[in-house]
Amino acid sequence: MTKKFNRTLVTSALPYANGPVHIGHMAGVYIPADIYVRYLRLKGQEVIHIGGSDEHGVPITIRAKKEGVTPQAIVDKYHSIIKKSFEDFGITFDIYSRTSSETHRETASDFFLKLYNKGAFEEQTSEQYFDPEAQMFLADRYIMGECPHCGNPNAYGDQCESCGTSLNPTDLKNPRSTISGATPIMRATKHWYLPLDKHESWLRQWILEDHKEWKSNVYGQCKSWLDMGLQPRAVSRDLDWGVPIPLPDAEGKVLYVWFDAPIGYISNTIELLPDSWEKWWKAEDTKLIHFIGKDNIVFHCIVFPAMLKAEGSFILPENVPANEFLNLEGDKISTSRNWAVWLHEYLEDFPGQQDILRYVLTSNAPETKDNDFTWKDFQARNNNELVAILGNFINRALVLTQKYFDNKVPQAGELTEYDRNTLKEFADIKGIIESHLDTFRFRDALKEAMNLARIGNKYLADTEPWKIAKTDMARVGTIMNISLQITANLAIVFEPFLPFSVKKIRQFINMDSLTWEQLGRIDLLPEGHQLNPSELLFAKIEDETIEKQIQKLLDTKKANEGTTETKVAPQKPNVAFDDFAKLDLRVGRVLECTKVPKADKLLQFLIDDGINKRTIISGIAAWYKPEELVGKQVCFIANLEPRKLRGIESQGMLLSVEDTDGTLSLIQPPKDVTPGSQIG
Ligand code: 2FM
Ligand code: ZN
Repeated sequence: MTKKFNRTLVTSALPYANGPVHIGHMAGVYIPADIYVRYLRLKGQEVIHIGGSDEHGVPITIRAKKEGVTPQAIVDKYHSIIKKSFEDFGITFDIYSRTSSETHRETASDFFLKLYNKGAFEEQTSEQYFDPEAQMFLADRYIMGECPHCGNPNAYGDQCESCGTSLNPTDLKNPRSTISGATPIMRATKHWYLPLDKHESWLRQWILEDHKEWKSNVYGQCKSWLDMGLQPRAVSRDLDWGVPIPLPDAEGKVLYVWFDAPIGYISNTIELLPDSWEKWWKAEDTKLIHFIGKDNIVFHCIVFPAMLKAEGSFILPENVPANEFLNLEGDKISTSRNWAVWLHEYLEDFPGQQDILRYVLTSNAPETKDNDFTWKDFQARNNNELVAILGNFINRALVLTQKYFDNKVPQAGELTEYDRNTLKEFADIKGIIESHLDTFRFRDALKEAMNLARIGNKYLADTEPWKIAKTDMARVGTIMNISLQITANLAIVFEPFLPFSVKKIRQFINMDSLTWEQLGRIDLLPEGHQLNPSELLFAKIEDETIEKQIQKLLDTKKANEGTTETKVAPQKPNVAFDDFAKLDLRVGRVLECTKVPKADKLLQFLIDDGINKRTIISGIAAWYKPEELVGKQVCFIANLEPRKLRGIESQGMLLSVEDTDGTLSLIQPPKDVTPGSQIG
């Protein structure tokens, strides 16, 4: 049985207020959400779009420490920057609030208490790292130490950024607190857990059976989480930034950011509609849709629904149309490497051209897989589609009407078969676009909208009214009437995608009350209707403009080279000179070199070390042929404890250099020296 819905509650992921927003955020979440709500509004449906900033969590506190300001100062700054970017790009939120608001604190706190009182949590005490100097428990990101996998001495408690492995703080060797530098100690701490394992069976039914229509990337990710088996998740943290746990024995503890953030959708609805918010969250005929990026799937499809279910009076999302990621010129977008197109910077370089970016990001949205944004593609889509098809058609329709009919809609005479075929082709598109929009396929919907403009363009090119103007003005009138009706239709169908341009078109055609239901009709502009003067909607983007943007990115790449964000391994901690002096480094000559049987990587060397001959095994076989090394000089550690490799005792270690791409080369003295010469 399909459900009957009477209103739609749309939420867009609350971005962390610790940096501005970039094209990846827009393509993944905010543009699709905005297209959807604009479409529903055009259809006259009851809909609200809830947004806001996510202002809690450890990264915000880290950023504040780094900048020497309070977390509140950080979120105040970025909340306004983000809010402004959304306004500038025409993302139409009914409210854009923040999780540091009083309403949110109260709502999240009450939500926790309700679950607590219902016995929906499990309490567990576990040992966690505590900084004895700073007198605080340490979030994973506040602990650094040596990665057990690659030896990076600066791995974080949750991840080693050198080798990419996910870690637990207790995996780190020689852990240290990044707050005080002290060695953390283990201390018992109590937390509240949401027992997701107890929710697993209804979640399986609800997602895997009842929501087979969800996008395959979303459904697939949920299925793999469920198949792995769900574990209880802590909903509290030892931290001084966040919503305090509203219990007497919980000093210094706050709600985990992923517990309070989705409640932000509810608090912001309460702030918007204090008297009627409940029908949006509790009535069975409300359709709840979460727009998010793929990294948020588990929280919106599993954790938040479990919270809502545990509370008992809320509806669950009807769909969660998460997108994959957008890359930039072949590389992952990264805030820390400044590898992004920031919205505020885009507007400085392309003032008033929001719609081009909206168009390109929708045409190329990462709906089913990760996609790439390139400046060349941006230019091509603008020049070949917005300018050459949509802009060109509308401009010709308006300019010719101005020229031949004094800017008034001319009368349509009898239609030819060609006219009728054009209009028929055109009428079918409405249903197709609707079915794409209803199922969150915005790229396809936009493609079809552009096809409407293509039909118009072709119609004018085929009928050539400028050629018959001297002989048959009545026929020209029919052609222009049809072209203007198509223009009015374009002003409907493009409104969700290109709102700024549509505003202009509506001004040109002097018609500001068009609705979705009128789409496909050819009587939108009555005969004699007065039009306004028009101007070009889109302009060609020249190569130099694009080259400038590409150069900007190349400069960023250059600036990143040599920083720890590149593949260069981080520097190890200092050692005392006396420790270094203990190493006996020397030059020797290779007397013999052979492959070690059954060991692809190893070569066995016999080295003249100036005093004796010694055997050394080295993992260098992939880069040298044994015979080419015989007679060459090499550098080695002479006093390393001997150790056995493949049953052969290696009496030292050859020095080699590993390039950032992983290739190895032996270090050799720049000129021949006496074997046994010391290196220092
Ligand atoms: O990934 C993020 O940027 C999170 N701040 C999204 C939160 S969405 C919701 F739960 F608030
Ligand atoms: Zn590592």
